[in-house]
Amino acid sequence: MCPAATSDRGSEDRSSDPSNSESKVAQPGFHFRCIGCGSAAQTAAQNFRCSRCDNLLEITDSSWARDTLDAERLKSIWRERRFSNARLDLSGVWRFRELLPAPASEQNVVTLREGNTPLYDLPLTSHATGVSCLYAKHQGMNPTGSFKDTGMTVAATFARQAGYRWVACASTGNTSASMAAYAARGGMRSLVLVPDGKISWSKLSQALDYGALTCQLRTDFDGCLRLLQELVKRAPVYQLNSINPFRLEGQKTLALELLEQLDWKPPDHIIVPGGNLGNSSAIGKALLEMNALGLISHLPKLSVIQAEGANALVRTLHEAQGKHLVGVQAETRATAIRIGSPASWEKAVKVLRATAGACEQVSEIEIAQAKAEIGAEGIGCEPASAVTLAGFKKLLKTGFVKSDETVVLVLTGNLLKDPDFTMDFHRGNLFRESANEGEAAQLNRFRHPPVVLDATLNAVIHALEKAEKSSPSSDAE
Ligand code: F0G
Repeated sequence: MCPAATSDRGSEDRSSDPSNSESKVAQPGFHFRCIGCGSAAQTAAQNFRCSRCDNLLEITDSSWARDTLDAERLKSIWRERRFSNARLDLSGVWRFRELLPAPASEQNVVTLREGNTPLYDLPLTSHATGVSCLYAKHQGMNPTGSFKDTGMTVAATFARQAGYRWVACASTGNTSASMAAYAARGGMRSLVLVPDGKISWSKLSQALDYGALTCQLRTDFDGCLRLLQELVKRAPVYQLNSINPFRLEGQKTLALELLEQLDWKPPDHIIVPGGNLGNSSAIGKALLEMNALGLISHLPKLSVIQAEGANALVRTLHEAQGKHLVGVQAETRATAIRIGSPASWEKAVKVLRATAGACEQVSEIEIAQAKAEIGAEGIGCEPASAVTLAGFKKLLKTGFVKSDETVVLVLTGNLLKDPDFTMDFHRGNLFRESANEGEAAQLNRFRHPPVVLDATLNAVIHALEKAEKSSPSSDAE
């Protein structure tokens, strides 16, 4: 058989379904550490919570602390792998495998060549804001269109290695799309729990095509996640939400790849959207590990941006000084981050503090405008990703970000993930009543509704002339 066509499906002897909920997941070479009481163990229960205090677990590898990992050597190994056609090296995640938990065999790895995403400059936004070193790390360019793939390749690999037949997640859409794809590639079945009517069709359709059992539950995301946590105690399904620490290990590679793209010169700021807060936790963990290993000379500030209507972390920090979670009843058109009780809030508080980052919230109108601005750069993203640009502008105004600093916005999802939002925006249906005159005028600058014309040359030429008259360059003249 052609080597490049080697199947990602597991071997047929993988039939050892864990048949009881007490089964443990044992992993050599690294261990699980509780972020609350600090107790460490070689195994984790299926709900990935500490058996002593019920807090979340993280993965640590004591060998990293030793001098076995030389920063310059690592950089050169990772660079060399970019020219390799070996299966693992083609993945922008497994290319960095020295900082990931190692599977027992390479054959267990489930990969869709995730990662390897572009770092774009944003010339229009740089010009408008005066911040010349402004970049977007576009995780929406992953195989299923979101950053979730970088974590899913690792977690699906360990699910397959442990012999699971079923994997499951609660989701606002992207996790389910990603999980269903990786389960299909890994020869596993997938169970998706999503809030009925609250996720975009485009994400839902991905899960269907990849063959997931898709349950639309009459609740919100938080309700779906609560149910999943109960389910994993009762049924032999492997949980693939970001509570699963393997997910976060894979998502760390966003930061590794970003720093490599910046020739290992740390930016001053990395700005990321916050929903369930797994991604910010993963990026923060990566930055701290990179700093400890000497891969970078200092820490960038990691800031988290939330939608005003789903601002649990903002409130947790302001009202409870990060000591306990202040949950909210979440509501936002940026449905990917419509989350009121983020599971990884404590991990996020820790990395925000460790990197001296900020936490900011942005309005629905600010999100829509930022999304249109990213579209105008020829890039585009889904609404949840656009909170980063909206938040960046706020942080620039408050002086937290300075115009001579280097800033990276993490765009988490592809423009095509939420076409309804985009169409509603351009047709003027998003804020029919809620925008005031000034806001409406501001938004109108970015609206490009489709025009329906008679199929005549004259009609098209007239439309062209009209568009030319109202184009930004003719305004300026
Ligand atoms: N951006 C997008 C596009 C997302 O899909 C999500 C989360 C986030 C940002 C927030 O990341 O949860 O790690 O803080 N989506 C999850 C899902 C919840 O189910 O797809 P987070």
